[in-house]
Amino acid sequence: MKVQIAKGVFDLLPCEPDPKEQWRCSYYWNHVEKIIREVTRSFAYHEIRTPLFEKTELFLRGVGEGTDIVSKEMYTFDDRGGRSMTLRPEGTAPVMRAFIEKQLQQQARCHKLFYLAPMFRYERPQSGRYRQHHQFGAEAVGSAAPEQDAELIALIYTTYCRLGLRNLSVRLNSVGDQASRAAYRQNLIDYLQPFRDTLSEESQKRFEINPLRILDSKSPSDIEIVKQAPSILDALTPEAQEHFERVCLLLNGLEIPFVVDTRLVRGLDYYTHTVFEITSEHLGAQNSIGGGGRYDGLIKTLGGPDLPAVGFGSGMERIIQTMIKQQCPLPSFPSPLLYLIPLGDLAKEKCCILLQKLRIQGLSCSMDTSYRKLKQVMRVANELQAEYVSVIGEEEINSNKVQIKRMADGVVEELSLDTLVATMLEKDQQR
Ligand code: HAM
Repeated sequence: MKVQIAKGVFDLLPCEPDPKEQWRCSYYWNHVEKIIREVTRSFAYHEIRTPLFEKTELFLRGVGEGTDIVSKEMYTFDDRGGRSMTLRPEGTAPVMRAFIEKQLQQQARCHKLFYLAPMFRYERPQSGRYRQHHQFGAEAVGSAAPEQDAELIALIYTTYCRLGLRNLSVRLNSVGDQASRAAYRQNLIDYLQPFRDTLSEESQKRFEINPLRILDSKSPSDIEIVKQAPSILDALTPEAQEHFERVCLLLNGLEIPFVVDTRLVRGLDYYTHTVFEITSEHLGAQNSIGGGGRYDGLIKTLGGPDLPAVGFGSGMERIIQTMIKQQCPLPSFPSPLLYLIPLGDLAKEKCCILLQKLRIQGLSCSMDTSYRKLKQVMRVANELQAEYVSVIGEEEINSNKVQIKRMADGVVEELSLDTLVATMLEKDQQR
């Protein structure tokens, strides 16, 4: 029996046979990652890579035991030494763990970080929701200023714009500081109490553990109930309110369109003050393309210094799926410039050397090593979308002359073997 891929995960390939799943083409991912690297560079964020797994305790303390992620979705296992480990379900807690461990507060270069990394959540697989997904995330540590919140939103928004994404809605809210949240929690409990028995099963559970998450419920009857719920913005302390108003003012100045959504509470426990989510109408039920917020208490909770921080995470799958739906510019298959077809042993050796010379110059080229019939090999060259093909046999080597054939129109050029590299370099520049 063939061993098949596990549920909820996928391969990225240079060619995706299923036309509905073109977002899995690896060269689309390369393109998006390249743009992300360019944008993060212009915002002066630097890359961090943390391990795929961490001690389970990190997520229990960092993300919160009452969250869906920790209570239902973690890939947790005991290693051979009997220690509980968890495949990273999100990027913020690991980045903060590294920050604390390496005392990065003393390293200015490490205050603004980004990552491109796989995350693991045992969720019910469906379109846009996977058990291994990949996030582009960024975290800025050390500044409590609203300008820092605005910078993070500008970073994610600019990245989306550079990728060609349109019609995205930025939803913004504040969950305030601890004092604001404690006051609001009570207001909300008082409001929800009479409806307690009519709430969905999930929300009834949340009533005890984290009533704010009821605002986020997808159940139609819960949505009706929370419509009239008090707004968290009315419970903000004057400082929290000032912070939020300043973030709004800065976003207006940056011309980033947003709506204030007082029902927006995110699914992780660490947030304080600003929270935001960016959604696309093209994503269906799983419509959040990215989200984040400020988390001023997390570093201290994890045993580090009392430093404020803010960040976001954005699903690469959802970014690329939206790009395809919106017909954003995406690269075509990275075809080789030249495909060599050797005929005979001497030509095989000669072609190996030629290839190396071309490749050292940075040219993309390949050669047939199947040594099948010419017609079959030409079919391969066609499939690879090689721009030029050159058949090299003993005759070419003896005369020191080769022909290169442009596959698009069949035009043939003859040139000296010695000038092949220089000619191909010229052709590459014209590409
Ligand atoms: P999150 O909202 O849980 O936040 O995830 C961020 C993004 O990852 C989502 O908006 C979505 O695009 C994508 N995503 C999440 N789960 C899945 C899944 N199962 N399949 C596909 N895509 C998914 C966080 O993870 C926070 N760490 C973000 C953050 C960073 N907040 C502050 N700093």
